Amino acid sequence: MDEGAAPPRVIAIDGPAGSGKSTVARAVADRLDLEYLDTGAMYRGVAHAVLARGVDPADADAVAAVARAVELDVTRSRCLVDGEDASEAIRGPEVTAAVSAVAANPEVRVELVARQRRWVADLGGGVMEGRDIGSVVFPDAELKVYLTASAEVRARRRAAEFPGMDVDRVAAEIRRRDAADSSRAASPLVTADGARVLDTSDLTVDGVVDAIVEMLG
Ligand code: DC
Repeated sequence: MDEGAAPPRVIAIDGPAGSGKSTVARAVADRLDLEYLDTGAMYRGVAHAVLARGVDPADADAVAAVARAVELDVTRSRCLVDGEDASEAIRGPEVTAAVSAVAANPEVRVELVARQRRWVADLGGGVMEGRDIGSVVFPDAELKVYLTASAEVRARRRAAEFPGMDVDRVAAEIRRRDAADSSRAASPLVTADGARVLDTSDLTVDGVVDAIVEMLG
């Protein structure tokens, strides 16, 4: 073993939908010149593959088999699923409706967590965002941040990403997904031990990034 190698540097950013995770995690990675991984895109990529293969999202064994077999290539700017660019499809309503069931599948989580840890081992660390990064994937991360925002602010942010979509419908979808992500048995959305909680409701992106960089000391 190379004893001189620096340990991987991981910054874990977790939180519910619309808390600003993706925007903030990307900006923190840019500011610190670190790699960035959106683990939600990986769960979405599996959900996309499940639908594309005609598998029932409720069929746990079949979904787990897809997770183990699927080729996922998630980079900062795109998501390839089995070699095809699914960057837009994974944000669409079909995948969004199916992803909670896929993410609740313990075998899917085992597979994706292993891939996430491999990503860190290969790249030497980075900023990783999701729901369970600080609690399960990297509990020893250098910094764990739990971003939150009021339900109303989160719904408005999500609606702004999809012009023409009704804020009330987005709010209902967010509530449904929050409830599913927080109440599932396998790695529910929780504030990890030692995580710093940051409410982004009244902060700008730069303000949140400044606060996170300051936490690193
Ligand atoms: O962050 P997002 O909306 O793209 O996440 C998509 C879904 O994946 C969401 O329902 C929660 C789930 N997810 C998860 O369970 N664990 C992660 N580390 C990331 C996302």
